[in-house]
Amino acid sequence: MGRFEGRGVVVTGAAQGMGRAISEAFLAEGARVVLADLNEEGVAATAEELGRDGNTFAVRCDVTNSDDVRNLVTASLDQLGAVDVFVNNAGTITMRRVVELGEDEWDMVMDVNAKGVFLCTRAILPHMLDRKSGAIVNIASQAGKRGYKLFAHYCRSDGCRGFRWVASRSRNTSLASRCSLPRTMRVK
Ligand SMILES: NC(=O)c1ccc[n+]([C@@H]2O[C@H](COP(=O)([O-])OP(=O)(O)OC[C@H]3O[C@@H](n4cnc5c(N)ncnc54)[C@H](O)[C@@H]3O)[C@@H](O)[C@H]2O)c1
Repeated sequence: MGRFEGRGVVVTGAAQGMGRAISEAFLAEGARVVLADLNEEGVAATAEELGRDGNTFAVRCDVTNSDDVRNLVTASLDQLGAVDVFVNNAGTITMRRVVELGEDEWDMVMDVNAKGVFLCTRAILPHMLDRKSGAIVNIASQAGKRGYKLFAHYCRSDGCRGFRWVASRSRNTSLASRCSLPRTMRVK
């Protein structure tokens, strides 16, 4: 029996890379997983590839759009019944020296990496508070802890998502908020 047998998990940015690998790991432990991504075709293909016996669901969602995020939570609750783990994994990066960095590029990276985490956390938290249970995992980066000359905007955004957003912990409430700071890694 897997460690997440029958549990409901949502992973953003799940069409490829780490989000796909995270989804695969939860599925291997018996979870049912909603894979969400801006890339509608990509996430549908990944969900189909990884799925077995109806344990995966694909949802198109832009994490910077609050309507999309609300729809993701509604669709996830419809499909899973309850969400035990929500993984804020969707992220983006560009490489540019700060003197050449445009405001649009700064805003785009901050929107996906920082605002996206806020919108998703805000949308799923009431459900977890009602159940007095749940875990939110933010995938940030080592880049949030130090500077890189081509990644000023990415470092700033990862500093934001690196902190543990959910401080609410009261008696009878078992809510966990975790943050992972991976180094550079190559994934399928
Ligand atoms: N790969 C690494 O070395 C590394 C290291 C540290 C941290 N990270 C972080 O891990 C996460 C995953 O990285 P990765 O390398 O797998 O990235 P990736 O680029 O391979 O995949 C990111 C996924 O997020 C999706 N996405 C982008 N913008 C989105 C949006 N607005 N809404 C929904 N989905 C969106 C993309 O379509 C893509 O499927 C990111 O947050 C990244 O910053 C990665």
